[in-house]
Amino acid sequence: CGIVGYVGNKNACEIIIQGLERLEYRGYDSAGVAVCEKGTFKTVKTVGKVAKLKELVGADGLKGNVGIGHTRWATHGGVTTANAHPHTDEKHMVVLVHNGIIENYKELRDELVAENVHFSSETDTEVAAQLLARLYDGEPVKALCQLFKKCRGAFAFVLVFGDRPNELYCVRKGAPLVVALGNGEAYCASDVPAVVEHADKVIFLNEGEICRLSTSGAEFWDLDGVAHQRRTVSVDVDRAMIDKAGYPHFMLKEINEQGSVLRRALFGRTASDLIDLSGEWGITPEKAKTFKRMDLVACGTSFYAATVAQRVLEKYLKVDIRVDIASEYRYRPLRAGGDTIAVFVSQSGETLDTLEALRHVKELGAYTVAATNAPNSSIAREVDDVIRLNAGIEIGVAATKTFTAQMAVLILAGLYLAKLRGELPGADEKRLAEAMKDLPYKVEQTLLLKDVVRSLARKFGAARDFLFLGRGVSYPVAMEGALKLKEISYVHAEAYAAGEMKHGPIALLDEELPVVVVAPADELLEKTLSNVEETRARKAPVIIVTTENVPDVNDVSGTIKVPMTEAELTPFLTVLPLQIFAYESALLRGCDIDQPRNLAKSVTVE
Ligand code: G6P
Repeated sequence: CGIVGYVGNKNACEIIIQGLERLEYRGYDSAGVAVCEKGTFKTVKTVGKVAKLKELVGADGLKGNVGIGHTRWATHGGVTTANAHPHTDEKHMVVLVHNGIIENYKELRDELVAENVHFSSETDTEVAAQLLARLYDGEPVKALCQLFKKCRGAFAFVLVFGDRPNELYCVRKGAPLVVALGNGEAYCASDVPAVVEHADKVIFLNEGEICRLSTSGAEFWDLDGVAHQRRTVSVDVDRAMIDKAGYPHFMLKEINEQGSVLRRALFGRTASDLIDLSGEWGITPEKAKTFKRMDLVACGTSFYAATVAQRVLEKYLKVDIRVDIASEYRYRPLRAGGDTIAVFVSQSGETLDTLEALRHVKELGAYTVAATNAPNSSIAREVDDVIRLNAGIEIGVAATKTFTAQMAVLILAGLYLAKLRGELPGADEKRLAEAMKDLPYKVEQTLLLKDVVRSLARKFGAARDFLFLGRGVSYPVAMEGALKLKEISYVHAEAYAAGEMKHGPIALLDEELPVVVVAPADELLEKTLSNVEETRARKAPVIIVTTENVPDVNDVSGTIKVPMTEAELTPFLTVLPLQIFAYESALLRGCDIDQPRNLAKSVTVE
């Protein structure tokens, strides 16, 4: 969910709504704002997006200089106005917004109901508001410490006490909150884009920290109510990244940024045809040689980037490389330990399953690394080492440029590790480093194929299902292509390892099921082309995504040829037409591309 709070001398409502617009990628099924007007809080809430909230608030807006706002991604309780935040208690002593889940909310709610507290929503958030109001006896920090100890789960709260309308209180436990200070004013939010227009010095709240914001600045306490000081840090968010820069959608802008994203991911890591991460990663050759196992752990698109990396690295890095989905990994009895390097791949650095997976393996003594676009995130704080994606903030809910940056960074880090262990032949290092340096240009060449891809998306605009196939490094590309299509155009798409098609999905094939085959020139090409034959024999239309050096395949409905590169690196190019295909298909269907239904960019719940 998105949270924004403001206290100062400006119109709070305007600032909050603008901040919520910047955070809408975090959830957007309902929105609300509460502003203190002459000592009383006025709340406006609605189902739908921030635009709807803006409309409801009206041109005059809510007057007042202190307020909190929220965009919701429903967990407990359906999408209704009553369930939208901010929430308050029966006596309006507390107004509160919340991100995350209070796991024991039922138990807490039952206790309150037994004390005749009346609830007006189904949310766990209202439980926190009602409980806090009962704990509050004029001492905010004391009440918040008590609340904190009573609530289980991962969450962040921002709230105002009715009798202290000029102060905002923020509490963090497992869900991110950032605070920014201006001249006689203060902001807080669940992510940096909401505050970056107002301040470039911020404070990321620590776990178990309470913060009070007022016109005189910020004060901090721990959970025992002991005060402490915090320093601000600079954030290097490029403001251009939070604008669409003339593109109709963030997703299209971010697809088109991938050449420069790769340049940044490679920068300083591939000098003179050598792969060298020593400038940022202090791991010694001795330490590198202790590993017997590497676990790559992630969710969603990040999982597919990790899978590409696994397929590439297992040829060079002589350790047992496994990939797993974070929500599975975190509950598995792992045989990992001190000989394991566990890499957590998360663009946001906040995905709760990935964070918990990290904690799980850390307890077993593994050495942990994060590959993330958010170096101040929860995951980045808890690992031994961070490797930055440097992709610039990604706003489109469907990840595109971070996928590219993740593949680059994981491959580079893995090759560097192999080099430290003496396992990477010099010729391979040079060949791959040179080829990677050529990739940004080739990415830009591939993006020029957009018209061909658009016409294919039109040709299959009526299809209700798609099958995606690939082998080796192209299998996770097929999975990512299918995921993109599902996410933003709501078309059912299933990805299979091409060789596995005959064990099931082949039964689905007919004229109505287009099959997208990712088949670049590599040692598995012939095998994949045999699968194309099997597909055509069953009359399913085929779209092939291949490289320029592969001869045309007869009788296919479409061929997209990307530039040639080293076989291991083809995912950087073959994924691009699939991203554009999903984008164009969604556009044709009139879908909400940057904010697809039911999804959120940063999933801080289990
Ligand atoms: C959500 C997003 C996906 C993303 C996944 C993992 O489901 O909608 O686009 O791939 O989370 O996110 P992370 O920030 O951990 O990479």
